[in-house]
Amino acid sequence: MLNRSVLRIRACGQDSLPGPCSSRPARGHRQLCLASVIALVCLVATGCRQDMHDQPRLEVFEASTFFDNGMASRQLPAGTVPWGQLREDTHLWEGKDAAGEFVDALPMPLTRELVERGQTRYEIFCSVCHDSVGGGRGMIVRRGYKQPSPLYEQRLKDMPAGYFFDVITAGFGLMSSYKNQIPVEDRWAIVAYVRALQLSTSALAELPQGVQAEFHQALAAPVDEPEAEENH
Ligand code: HEC
Repeated sequence: MLNRSVLRIRACGQDSLPGPCSSRPARGHRQLCLASVIALVCLVATGCRQDMHDQPRLEVFEASTFFDNGMASRQLPAGTVPWGQLREDTHLWEGKDAAGEFVDALPMPLTRELVERGQTRYEIFCSVCHDSVGGGRGMIVRRGYKQPSPLYEQRLKDMPAGYFFDVITAGFGLMSSYKNQIPVEDRWAIVAYVRALQLSTSALAELPQGVQAEFHQALAAPVDEPEAEENH
């Protein structure tokens, strides 16, 4: 098909040759032929298109005659757990004890490395909204996103460590879950760092009164970008 239309273009270019294009003026013909070739190319291109998300394979649990159970996937044999998916440790995986209450401790030893790891993860994943000191004035907030409570406000200082793990894992209100982006140990490292941020603000009480007032004033001032006001 394609070969024929290429031939046709050639034919149109040479007016002396007989063919479908030769009975009209040359310029109009060329345009007509060009349009039909473009239409043909479009047709061929879209006809053969295979979206990457629609590949010739079976989806998980799709119907199939291959296995007896009529599905493309095998069911887990009863009483088995896939390698690496045993999540019995509720402290580590949910931040909760066996009774389902938030635990106020890390599931691993608190070390300087852990806090430093938490700092880098916090800067990457949280500071864009919560800002580097946890005040809730990150760049996304300045551009109009909801302003979260300061991480060092008393209510949050009183929350158990497991609560912060849960917020990162499950999300909270407008904040989405980060469990797919942040591995479980890193989530705990962030919790350790959030605690460090909270503690660091306790040092405020030891600053001279004037400096303290200045600090509080700066924190209480509205976010300075006009966009933030409009979109609140
Ligand atoms: C895209 C912006 C955004 C990012 C990124 C983000 N948060 Fe949030 N976070 C929010 C908002 C907004 C709220 C308040 C949600 C609401 O009230 O609907 C919030 C609330 C919270 C709260 C408070 C819950 C409470 O009881 O008030 C904690 C704790 C928290 N985030 C921790 C984190 C940590 C830790 C990270 C990084 C892993 C993070 N957030 C990343 C926007 C964000």
